[in-house]
Amino acid sequence: MGPENAIITIDGPSGSGKSTISRLVAARLGFTYLDTGAMYRAVGYQARKLGISFEDSKSLAELLENINLVLAPGDGDTRVILDGEDISLAIRTAEMGLIASQVSAQPVVRQKLTEMQRRMGEKGRVVVEGRDTGTVVFPSARHKFFLDAEPEERARRRCQQLREKGLAADENDVLAQIIKRDQDDSGRSLAPLRPADDAIIIDTSSLGINDVVLFMLEQVEKSEEKVQYESRDERIGKMIS
Ligand code: DC
Repeated sequence: MGPENAIITIDGPSGSGKSTISRLVAARLGFTYLDTGAMYRAVGYQARKLGISFEDSKSLAELLENINLVLAPGDGDTRVILDGEDISLAIRTAEMGLIASQVSAQPVVRQKLTEMQRRMGEKGRVVVEGRDTGTVVFPSARHKFFLDAEPEERARRRCQQLREKGLAADENDVLAQIIKRDQDDSGRSLAPLRPADDAIIIDTSSLGINDVVLFMLEQVEKSEEKVQYESRDERIGKMIS
């Protein structure tokens, strides 16, 4: 895979800055941004709407067979259209985050969404954001990042985001939800939240968004140069031998 069709994965817990940063990195590179969390949220939304238990794998499989989900770039967050209905805002509540986390622990849900994500990103030029994109969805992606931050800082950021969207947010409640979701996402046996062995880990607690974006772009550029040299050396090697 050449530099022009690279895949960049950005994983990390809620509030680590990953969505804002992923969007900016994608925009700077002219890549597509793929928000995998929005897909888990959409499945959770549909399950709740249809009254399906979040542990009922048979009904969840059926739901996934018939799901009509479209992700489109929006002004801020990704626009999420389910059966023609714009659910972009409805899926962003703290409650929907917890529901998404619950359905995401079901193997049938992970399998189907992983397949969809691979199809959406297979051509490259994509920044994929989530929890397992560097470990499971695109294990051979060339650029992998894992963003983290102190839980209190993540709760503060999350509240600010929710308030900017006009949604109610209490910092103590959000902190408790963040801790619970971290435990669930990291503790599950299937595709747990963890950095890939070859990911660059960045603690964003005391870093500005732009500093992180610039650092990441530098890392991408550096390793792209290395890949170009390597493939040039390989071509020269072939010509000589
Ligand atoms: O990134 P987010 O807060 O929108 O994600 C919501 C939930 O979806 C998260 O708590 C766990 C799940 N998720 C996942 O299991 N794997 C992903 N790649 C992305 C999200």
